[in-house]
Amino acid sequence: AQPVEDAAADLLEAALAEADGTAPVEAAVRRRTFAVISHPDAGKSTLTEALALHGGAIGQAGIVQGKGGRRGVVSDWLDMEKARGISITSAALQFVYRDHVVNLLDTPGHADFSEDTYRVLTAVDSAVMLVDAAKGMERQTMKLFDVCKLRGLPVLTVINKWDRPGLEALELMDEIAEKTGMTPTPVLWPVGIGGDFRGLLDLRDDSYIAFEAGSGGATRTVWTRMGLDEGLARDGDVLATAVEEAELITSSNGRHDEESFRAGRTSPVVFAAAVLNRGVEQLLDILVETAPPPGDRPTVDGAVRHVGDPFSGQVFKVQAGMDSNHRDHVAFIRVSSGRFHRGQGVVNARNGKVVGTKYAHRVFGGTRTGVEDAWPGDVVAIVNASGVRVGDTLFEGRSVTYPPIPTFAPEHFAVCRAADLAKYKQFQRGITELHHEGVVQTLRSDMRGEPSPVLAAVGPMQFDVVSHRMAGEFNCPVQLEPLGYQIARRTTSEHIPALSRVPGVEVLTSLDGDHFALFPDRWRLQRIERDHPEIVLDALAADS
Ligand code: G4P
Repeated sequence: AQPVEDAAADLLEAALAEADGTAPVEAAVRRRTFAVISHPDAGKSTLTEALALHGGAIGQAGIVQGKGGRRGVVSDWLDMEKARGISITSAALQFVYRDHVVNLLDTPGHADFSEDTYRVLTAVDSAVMLVDAAKGMERQTMKLFDVCKLRGLPVLTVINKWDRPGLEALELMDEIAEKTGMTPTPVLWPVGIGGDFRGLLDLRDDSYIAFEAGSGGATRTVWTRMGLDEGLARDGDVLATAVEEAELITSSNGRHDEESFRAGRTSPVVFAAAVLNRGVEQLLDILVETAPPPGDRPTVDGAVRHVGDPFSGQVFKVQAGMDSNHRDHVAFIRVSSGRFHRGQGVVNARNGKVVGTKYAHRVFGGTRTGVEDAWPGDVVAIVNASGVRVGDTLFEGRSVTYPPIPTFAPEHFAVCRAADLAKYKQFQRGITELHHEGVVQTLRSDMRGEPSPVLAAVGPMQFDVVSHRMAGEFNCPVQLEPLGYQIARRTTSEHIPALSRVPGVEVLTSLDGDHFALFPDRWRLQRIERDHPEIVLDALAADS
C-alpha cells in the first residue's frame, strides 16, 4: 500500500470535486499554477520531485526523474527521451497543499525544446526561477526569464544547491538585479555559507528555521523554528553573519512586498538545497501565501473573460504518441474561467466545432487519471481531441478567443523529403500533424524548385523528433537536408518582393500563413534593417 500517495490523491479528488454550488471564483482563489524555469542541471527535476514529496504526490524522493537510471515517472514514455535522458514533453503535477491546489507545469529541460517551455509559460500565473548557487544566472535561465518578463509573469527566485560551495549570497543578489532588472527581496536568507547550510533566516518574522543535522534527502527535512536569541545560542557564529547580511540587503533592496512582486518589479528570494529537501516546504508556503491565483484574462478583441464566467481555456500543448498502444492525440488545456466538467461539449473557437470531453485526464508523466472536474488554473488533458491545435480556445456559453500563443523565431532550417516518394500521402499527413502539434514549423515557397517543405526549429533536436516520429508513427522515413540560414524574422506579404530580391535571403510561408524571411547571417539582417527601416522584420512570429 502507498498510504501517503493514497491520502494525497483523496485530498486532491475532494478539492477538484468541490461542492456543487462552488463558484469558480472561490476555486480559483485556492489555485496556484506555476512553472519552474532554469538552465539545464540547476536542479529542476530534483525540485519538482521534492515539491511532489511535500504535496504527498509521491511518498519518497528519488522516483520522479527519468535520468540516471532512476525509475522515471514524469516523462519516460517517449523512446527518444529515454535514449537521450532528456525531457521533451511537459506534464502537470497537481497536489493539495495547505488547502490550496498546486499546479506545477513541467517544462522540458533541454534548450532545444525551449519553444515548448515558452508555451507552458502562457499557461501559468507565476514562475519560479531556479538558480544554481555556484553558477549564477546562466544563459537559458536568462532566455526564459525574458519570456516571463514579456508576459508580465511574477517571478520568484530560488537559489539552489546551497549545500555545496558556491558564489556568495550577496554577490548572487547583485547578479540577479543586474541581469534581470528586478530587485531581489530575500524572504529566506541562508544561515551558513554554501556547503554549510544550517538553516534559514525567515525575514517575514525574523525567526530562525534550524535544520536538524542528518535529516532530509529522500524524506522531509526536519526543522525547528526559533527566535533569534535561541538561534544565536545554538548557531551564534553563522547566524550573526546571516543577520548582518540580511540587514545589508534589506536596507538597500527593501523587504518582500506582494504588490511589487506581482507587478514584476521585485522577486522574492528563497535559498534551498532541493536534493536535501531543504527550503522546499518553505518555498511552497511562500507560493501559497504570495503567488497570484488565476485571474481574469484578456481576450483577442480587447475584452476580458472573468474567472467566474462559463468554462473557457486555451490549448498550450498537443501531444501525439504518448501511448504506444493506441495512436492518440492529447490536447492539454489550461482552464481560464468557469468549471470544466468531464463529458460537457465545448466549442473550439477557431472552427466552431464541438470537442468531446469524455476522455478528460490528468497526466503526470506516464500516469493518467480520469478527471471529473477542473477549475481555473487547472490543467486538463483531453484524449482523442483530434483537430485541436496549440493556441486554440475552447469554451462553453458566450464565445471567447484568447490571443494566439507566441511562436519564436526559428534558428535552424532543413528541407524535408520522404525517403520513399510513393509515401507522399503519409508524408503530408505526418508533416501537417507535427506542424500543428508545434513540433516544428513547416514552411513553403512557390519560388523553390520543389514541393518539399522547409522545416524550421528553435533547436536542432526538434529535427530528430521529426525523423523519429515520421518513421515510427507515420511509417514514412524522411531525409533532412540542413539549409545555411541562421535567422528568421516574421514579415508581411507586401515586403516579400523587396526581400526576395536581396541575394542570399529567402521568404517562406508557414502552414498558418505567416511569412518568414530567412537570413544566412546577422550582418545581412542588420544591413536590411539599416537600409530599409520600412520593412517589417519581427523576431516574434505572433504576440499575445
Ligand atoms: P535539471 O532537471 O535542472 O537538469 O537538474 P537535475 O534535477 O537533474 O539536477 C542536476 C544535478 O544536480 C543532479 O546531479 C542533482 O542531483 C544535482 N542537484 C540538484 N539539486 C541539488 C542540490 O540542492 N544540491 C546538490 N548538491 N546537488 C543538487 P547529477 O550528479 O547530475 O545526477 P544524480 O546522479 O545526482 O541524479
